[in-house]
Amino acid sequence: MINSRITDCKLIDLPKVKTEAGDITPINNHLDVPFEIKRVYYLYDIPNRSDRGGHAHKELHQLVVAVSGSFDIELFDGYDSVRYTLNQPDQGLLIVPGIWRNLNNFSGGGICLVLASQDYDENDYIRNLVDYQNSKI
Ligand code: TYD
Repeated sequence: MINSRITDCKLIDLPKVKTEAGDITPINNHLDVPFEIKRVYYLYDIPNRSDRGGHAHKELHQLVVAVSGSFDIELFDGYDSVRYTLNQPDQGLLIVPGIWRNLNNFSGGGICLVLASQDYDENDYIRNLVDYQNSKI
């Protein structure tokens, strides 16, 4: 999976239940997201100029959702890169293992929700870009 490509990542349209009192987006294991969710975390109070990410994961699958506001995610697979702008709470970006990502351009009040397939494990991170590129050769 370390040789995954950015074409293995994709935007996923999530369900949206509209009620008169507001909208609901449910996310169910295997149904709305193609992995078993083991961990949920979210980024908030993010200064506009923050650069987040700057790493790849060896095994972790993630679904990233802009539940409030907007931000950009650049994906890089050692060969090609692609930039997504996330700004809809009913749309998630699936990031498979082995993909380098940078997050930036956060709007005020932006909240980045991440659904993850594994517990937090620092050993699952590749934080050095040269090490990452060498792992792709
Ligand atoms: P990191 O994943 O590098 O943040 P980002 O990709 O959003 O820039 O994590 C930043 C810090 O937070 C790092 O010291 C580890 C800690 N952390 C946890 O303790 N648990 C977690 O589930 C996550 C995602 C991070």
